[in-house]
Amino acid sequence: MLVVDFHAEATSEKIAMGRALDGKVSFVVGTHTHVQTADETIFDGGTAYLTDAGMCGPDVSVLGRQVDSVVWKFRTGLPTRFPIAGGAVRLCGAIVDVDEESGRAVAIKRFNRLLEES
Ligand SMILES: [Fe+2]
Repeated sequence: MLVVDFHAEATSEKIAMGRALDGKVSFVVGTHTHVQTADETIFDGGTAYLTDAGMCGPDVSVLGRQVDSVVWKFRTGLPTRFPIAGGAVRLCGAIVDVDEESGRAVAIKRFNRLLEES
């Protein structure tokens, strides 16, 4: 079983890579943009695909950093620190079932769950 984590910005690049690897790997998943896409699928060649897995980290944040500091940076254009945000964590990703003999994906299920603080 082969899994490709394609760390890239453009969705077109990720989709093209997924299509190019269809039938050659079990799963192509995009990362980097931190926002989960809803396009999970299995291509004809048996490769599961998701353009972006999404983020695992603080739910009330800007890509995991404290909101106020990031907003201040964009408003002022001045450099500042970006402390890690706290609070409840969101867990995003996908679970792929793969036929061990053929390496073909047989199912993909995207998940996006808020883990409440205990
Ligand atoms: Fe990145």
